[in-house]
Amino acid sequence: MSIILHKVLGDHRGQLVAIEGGDSVPFDIKRVFYIYGTQKKVSRGDHSHYNTKQYLIAVNGSCKVTLDNGKTKQTFDLDEPKKGLFQDALIWGTMHDFSDNCVLLVLASEYYNESDYIRDYQFFLKAVNNS
Ligand code: TYD
Repeated sequence: MSIILHKVLGDHRGQLVAIEGGDSVPFDIKRVFYIYGTQKKVSRGDHSHYNTKQYLIAVNGSCKVTLDNGKTKQTFDLDEPKKGLFQDALIWGTMHDFSDNCVLLVLASEYYNESDYIRDYQFFLKAVNNS
């Protein structure tokens, strides 16, 4: 679990970051969603997935993401549009400390499917131990 720094293709017109599925993001991208307008004191996520892998980028503003593999937790600062964070399946993820202007872009390996969610932490620990 670590931050990936993307190459910034900048010139006098501004900056550009290009991301391709299967390359810097280690899966084919099936779904994209983004989160914005989240208050600083509100946390989101607080769940894991059986199969879905995600890749998170704060394309504007900043937030923190805590990833938990059932044994250890690590908190990452997403505070630059060139920073990406991979969240594998069976990792519990929580997004928090959103800045006012944060837009958190999430690339996902699977289409939305509520049955892929693990929203109960004890179920999550059992799923990790059975994997
Ligand atoms: P939710 O999973 O609660 O958001 P977060 O993990 O950021 O706290 O999702 C909020 C609502 O949006 C919920 O009704 C499910 C729906 N949703 C979709 O329909 N498609 C999606 O791709 C996502 C991520 C959520």
